[in-house]
Amino acid sequence: MSEVWLGDIRLRNRLVTSSSLLGYGASDPGLVPYGMSPISRFVSLERFGAVTTRTLTVQPRDGHFTNRTDWPLRALPALLRSYATVLRSVDGGWINAFGWCNVGIEAYLRDYYPRTRGQNTIISVGGFAAEEFVTLVDTVNAAVPPGAIAAVEFNVSCPNVDHDFEPILAGVLADAVPASRHPVILKLSPDRDYVGHARRAAAAGVSALTAINTVRALRLDPRTGQPWLANRYGGLSGRAVKPIGLRVVAELRDAGITLPVIATGGIRTFDDCREYFWAGADAVSLGSASWLASYPGYALAPLWGWQIRSILRKIEAYRPRVSGEYGYSSQRHSHAAKPPV
Ligand SMILES: Cc1cc2nc3c(=O)[nH]c(=O)nc-3n(C[C@H](O)[C@H](O)[C@H](O)COP(=O)(O)O)c2cc1C
Repeated sequence: MSEVWLGDIRLRNRLVTSSSLLGYGASDPGLVPYGMSPISRFVSLERFGAVTTRTLTVQPRDGHFTNRTDWPLRALPALLRSYATVLRSVDGGWINAFGWCNVGIEAYLRDYYPRTRGQNTIISVGGFAAEEFVTLVDTVNAAVPPGAIAAVEFNVSCPNVDHDFEPILAGVLADAVPASRHPVILKLSPDRDYVGHARRAAAAGVSALTAINTVRALRLDPRTGQPWLANRYGGLSGRAVKPIGLRVVAELRDAGITLPVIATGGIRTFDDCREYFWAGADAVSLGSASWLASYPGYALAPLWGWQIRSILRKIEAYRPRVSGEYGYSSQRHSHAAKPPV
């Protein structure tokens, strides 16, 4: 196993999965595939550098969708109609507005985390006040010993919960980062002052950055003018945002940010990964372009699974030909003394 360290974050390799695309890393108890991309059935999640959970909040939230999982078959059409108001395919990608629909941190740690022990996990957390982030890290601290997960990722960049995170960022960094017994990753928005946020994160002791969260976006029904998504605005992801993700990573490096960067934005092939490495990323993350498909498209799930396994093999075998091809951090840190994941 080609383990890598990004600062004090241990990954099994440089390929991780992006927040939420594989739910909580395990499907809902009782119903076989619910809550997970069907493509995930064809890839061992234990092989990833880490699997990043859906963003978890202090209390359970329906967001703009629902946490209900006990749908009878006859309710399926209504469920699909409701799903189409939170996730839609658009040219070159997807827009979503789940709005942090999640079971809450305690239910996650009780019902899902124990079933994902074979994986290396990044727990994504989100809140609307600094105190909520402190509660979230305290809860993770109490349930998960240091070294048992890769990191906790702070989501202060979601474009579809309709919250301005700018006023709480200082408090989150000052109070919640030092409270965490696990390395902290800050997830950046391409719509915000990501260079400024990255500088403040570095000063506050954050271990790494994830770039990028979805790009705030809108689609309207051209016949009626009604928004496609229940929340009107959503977040754009997938192939369409790859050039934006590359721009953000490169601009962070151009600005002299030296924290490790985990890049996500439209990655589907090994060449996409390599492009992000060239731009300055230390690790890359598979999001919507790899795990989402149209309903008929999921018939090809075994093929997409094969493609993802092939990227994993290539990432594990890959040795950069040029020193410095990975972002700044990887060569600068040595953590030989740390215990294995
Ligand atoms: C359906 C969906 C749900 C998402 N939910 C979350 C979330 O809960 N927390 C978060 O930090 N990012 C979330 N994201 C953003 C992704 O983790 C990722 O940052 C973004 O989609 C860009 O990468 P991609 O183009 O590779 O998907 C979500 C994306 C999608 C498509």
